[in-house]
Amino acid sequence: MTATAYVKNSRLRVGLRRHPWVYDDAVTKIQGEYENGDVVTVRSEAGKFLAHGFVNDASRLALRLVSFEKSVPITDDLLRERVRDAVALRHDSLRLRERTNAYRVIHSEGDGLPGLIVDRYDDVLALSCSSLGTQRRLDPIVSELLALLEPSAILELGVSEGLRGSEGLPPGRGLISGVLAHPLRTVSIDGLHLHVPLTDGQKTGLFLDQRDNVRLLAGLAPGRRVLDACCYVGAFGLACAQAGARSVLAFDSSEAALELAIANAEMNGVADRVELVKGSLFRELRDRSDAGQTFDLIVLDPPKFAAKARDVKKARKGYLDANMLALKMLTPGGLLLTCSCSHHVGVEMLEGILSEAATRTSVRLRVLERRGAGLDHPVDVHCPEGRYLKAILAQRAGE
Ligand SMILES: C[S@@+](CC[C@H](N)C(=O)[O-])C[C@H]1O[C@@H](n2cnc3c(N)ncnc32)[C@H](O)[C@@H]1O
Repeated sequence: MTATAYVKNSRLRVGLRRHPWVYDDAVTKIQGEYENGDVVTVRSEAGKFLAHGFVNDASRLALRLVSFEKSVPITDDLLRERVRDAVALRHDSLRLRERTNAYRVIHSEGDGLPGLIVDRYDDVLALSCSSLGTQRRLDPIVSELLALLEPSAILELGVSEGLRGSEGLPPGRGLISGVLAHPLRTVSIDGLHLHVPLTDGQKTGLFLDQRDNVRLLAGLAPGRRVLDACCYVGAFGLACAQAGARSVLAFDSSEAALELAIANAEMNGVADRVELVKGSLFRELRDRSDAGQTFDLIVLDPPKFAAKARDVKKARKGYLDANMLALKMLTPGGLLLTCSCSHHVGVEMLEGILSEAATRTSVRLRVLERRGAGLDHPVDVHCPEGRYLKAILAQRAGE
């Protein structure tokens, strides 16, 4: 018998009814026997059916809702159907394979599969899962991925230790299907070739969420002097160089990322136009700004400054300082793409920070576009928390 979780009647409100997350303080009782990760029926205190979901009383996200239709329970067939739907979006609707062999195949709640990320790098799939309920049902998901995409290997990467502890998740198992001939894969994105570190990279190997922003900036780069701050394996800087930037300076604090960025520059035949430097964000920005260096296009894509809500104040100061230093180096007419991947720093806050940075540096700045992750990172309309990447493209106007 499936257990029943009762949640506060306030969950019946239209704005909340189909939100896929229920925090522990909204759960009033759970009736029946269950283990964490099991499927439960979710009802309001008044007894009205709300959803079928996964339960985990060890997690703050006590319920992860998967189906809101009483007649659509969580079965292996439903999970397979969600995988087919996710693949159809990327292949048939977005036609991503015409541009690249590196894309996000499954984006968690945006694809109706709580906590599950699957990225494709050529013939390898990199998978990570932060929800115990989904993790326990990986078999039908993996078998559908094998049937549809025929990867040579599937790697299961672990999530952060903190998340693993709070969800009660097992560690990543590494290779769960096939054979991994080499820990690097070479992928192609809009004509740029990149080596991807599959087993010891950041995220699942690449920051695939920036693909459409890279394409946009490459189109704006010809003739410009580009600064790529926090370049990882070089996507922005190298795409700009390939598109005809006059020069590119890119830096990152990770030795491993930089080694790959150098190899990537050589592979794309742009090493003569790209300077790749190991350096830390504030030191690099401050030293170059103090030295009077200027750039016509700057990408500022730092690591997450606010992992938790309580970090926001400190993070705000970090974003402000970095954006002020960037604006000081931006030539009139120059373009800035400033990014934040902190969940707790929304686009309004980022734009507010940019406004303050422009005031403090006396720069006349105009916002051209608010952007986010690419189209293969869909966001469930009821779960705006999925919109984690914020990017603002702005131009320094003339005096
Ligand atoms: C969001 S990622 C950048 C992704 C990159 N723009 C891309 O599209 O592939 C942040 C990068 O910042 C680097 N990083 C982390 N701390 C840093 C620091 N203090 N100074 C410079 N880079 C740092 C990480 O190694 C990582 O490559």
